[in-house]
Amino acid sequence: MKTWIQSTLTAGLAIAVLSAGVTVSQTASAEGVKEYQQVAAHHGNKKKMAIVAARRASMKAISKANKAMKAAAKAGNAQLVIQASNIIIKQANRMPQMFPKGTSRAKLGAKATRSKAAIWKNWKKFITANNKMWAAASTVAAAAKSGNAKAGAKGIGKTCGGCHKPFRGKKAKKS
Ligand code: HEC
Repeated sequence: MKTWIQSTLTAGLAIAVLSAGVTVSQTASAEGVKEYQQVAAHHGNKKKMAIVAARRASMKAISKANKAMKAAAKAGNAQLVIQASNIIIKQANRMPQMFPKGTSRAKLGAKATRSKAAIWKNWKKFITANNKMWAAASTVAAAAKSGNAKAGAKGIGKTCGGCHKPFRGKKAKKS
């Protein structure tokens, strides 16, 4: 997962550098400069959109892992509970880096992302909400490691709203 994100980001950067290089060497006229700026802005957004795609994929992975964890807890499968909780822990660990500045809904548009600008205005609160999910998943993993596959299984899902309510906007209307 991490490697996927890194390669996506690197690919995005490589394209931006490549196009920038080509445009600059092509022309130095005012028109060329304008074109260069447009290309740069376009590719800048492309990189941001790759990060948005990555964090949305991360959220889906969290959601999937939480469902798998609850099913495994019900079945008393401690090994699977540990595995699923670890996915959530890992995603929580990389959450801060998946929300770089300039990737809010206000900046990228309502259809591009549901991440409210409030995230960056209340960064500490955002991190605290993330830490709560991390802690809930760690509790579940620790209990499962000591043989209790069911303890705290419902706790992780209770932490999602603590972040979604203040920081995630409504789905964009389809046009
Ligand atoms: C620290 C904040 C935070 C926590 C904790 C969090 N989320 Fe999210 N989640 C977000 C934000 C912000 C978005 C919007 C992402 C975007 O569109 O840029 C989101 C989007 C999503 C999405 C939509 C993904 C898509 O397809 O666009 C799902 C599903 C989701 N979260 C599930 C969960 C579940 C399940 C949990 C708890 C187990 C959880 N999230 C915990 C912040 C959080």
